Amino acid sequence: MDYEEIQNRLKEIIKMTPKAIPDSEMAKIHKKIENNCPKSKPFFDEMIKCMPGGTQHQMVIKQPFAVTMKKSLGARMWDVDDNEYIDYLMSAGACILGHCYPPLKEEIIKIYHDQDPNLYWNSEWEIKAIKEIKKHVPSIERLQYFQSGTEADMAAIRIARVFTGKDKIIKFGGAYHGWSDQLTYDIHIPFSGNMESDGIPRGCYKDTVSLPPSDLKALEDNLKKWSEKRSGVAAVIVEPLGPESGAIPNPPGFNEAIRELCDEFGVLLIFDEVVTGFRLDLGGAQKVFGVKPDLTVFGKILTHGFPSAGAVGGREDIINLITGDVEAGGKHAFVGGTIRGNPLSVASTYWTIKLIERTNAINKAAKATDNLVKKLNDLFERDDRPYFAHNHKSILHFETYSPLSMDIRMPENIEKAVFRKKCVDEIAVVLLSQGIITKYGNRGFCCLSHSTEDNDKFIKAFENVLKIIPK
Ligand SMILES: Cc1ncc(COP(=O)(O)O)c(C=O)c1O
Repeated sequence: MDYEEIQNRLKEIIKMTPKAIPDSEMAKIHKKIENNCPKSKPFFDEMIKCMPGGTQHQMVIKQPFAVTMKKSLGARMWDVDDNEYIDYLMSAGACILGHCYPPLKEEIIKIYHDQDPNLYWNSEWEIKAIKEIKKHVPSIERLQYFQSGTEADMAAIRIARVFTGKDKIIKFGGAYHGWSDQLTYDIHIPFSGNMESDGIPRGCYKDTVSLPPSDLKALEDNLKKWSEKRSGVAAVIVEPLGPESGAIPNPPGFNEAIRELCDEFGVLLIFDEVVTGFRLDLGGAQKVFGVKPDLTVFGKILTHGFPSAGAVGGREDIINLITGDVEAGGKHAFVGGTIRGNPLSVASTYWTIKLIERTNAINKAAKATDNLVKKLNDLFERDDRPYFAHNHKSILHFETYSPLSMDIRMPENIEKAVFRKKCVDEIAVVLLSQGIITKYGNRGFCCLSHSTEDNDKFIKAFENVLKIIPK
C-alpha cells in the first residue's frame, strides 16, 4: 500500500465515529482468560504486590491480568497453564529468526561454557561482530555497543553535540527514541509534548525540537531559525520508516530530503534503526532508501533479544569522539555501561547476522507478513470495515481505531484519542484470549517461522473480534 493510500485510509478511519466492544462482551473475554489461565492469575497477584502494574513491559497485555509465560520456540509461546500462543510481538520485534532459535542458542551456550556473561574486557567476538555489521551497513566505519536502544540514542545525540558544538536536537512528533529525559518528548502521539511522563524538568527537553511528522518545510524553517542562534542544531534524528516504526509513515523521498537539508545546514543526520536494523534489510533502512546517515543507532535485533542490545555506529571522525579525539582538540563524549558489548551479546550479533544470511530470514518473514496483510485486508473488505493493514517487510500495522492519527492539538481530540487507544487495547485482549499475541492490538512482527497456517489462525481470531465490534 503506498503512502497516499495509507493517508487516505487513515483519514477515513478518523472520520468515523468509533464504537467500542461492549463491556458485556469484554467481561466474557476476561472470564475466558481467567478460566484458561488459573496458574497465571496467582503469579500476577503476587507480582503486583512487588512490582508496579504487575509487569515490566509496556507491550504486555494487562487485561484481565498479565499472563505468565514459561516457554518459547519459533513463532510460539506457552504460558504456565500450557496454553499455546502464536506470537506476533516477537520480543518487541527483537527475534526475526524466531524465539530460542536452536542454532543461535547453541553457539551462545558454547561461549557461555568458557566465559562469564560479562568479562569487562575485549573479546574476539567484538571484532567479528563489527566486521559483519560493517560488511552490510556501509555507513558504519566504527561502532560501540550500549546496553539498550535508549542508551544508544542518548550516546548518539551526545556525540553529535560534541562534534558540532551545537545543542538542539530535532525529532519528529510521535517518534520514539527511548525514554531518556531529553527524548521523552512528543512520543507515540504527535503533539503530545511532555504528556507521557511527569518528573522531567523542563530544562531537559528545552533543546529537543519536535516537528510535525513528515513536515519538510517545518524542518527547513527550524534548521534556518536555530542555525542563526547561538545554540544551533547538532542533529536531526529520525526513524527512517516514520514515527512508531512507520505507523505514521514518511512520504516518499523524505529521508533523501532530510539528508540534503542536513548537509546544507551542516547538521548531523542520525538514523534510529532500533526496529529497522536487520529487519528491513541486513543493510538497514539506509540501504533500502539509499541514504547514508552520519550516525546509526541499533538495538533489539542487534543481539536477537540477548541483553545489552544497543549500539551507535557511523563516521569515524564523529564516533572517535567517544575516546577523545586529539585532532578534534581533545573533545570528548563520555559514555559508559558495565555490561555493554559483553561476549554473549556481541557473539549473538555475529551469529544472528550469519544465520539471517543463511536462512534468508528477512525475506521469509516479509513474505509471511505480506500474506497476513493480504488476508487481513480481504477480511476487512468482506466485513465492510474501513480498517486496513499494511507492512514494511516483516513490520505489520493494522489500523482499526488509529489513535495515533488524532490531531490532539485540538483539545477535544485528547479524550477521543484515549478512547480509541482503549478500543485498540481491547482488540489485543480479544486476540490474546484466542491465542494470538500482537503489539498493542494494532501492530506486529513476523519471524522466520511464521507460516500461512499461523496467519489463518490470526484471521480466524480477527473474524471473532469483528463479530463483537458494533458497526
Ligand atoms: C525506534 C526506537 N528507538 C529506540 C528504542 C528504545 O530501545 P530500548 O527499548 O532497547 O531502550 C525503541 C524501542 O522500542 C525504538 O522502537
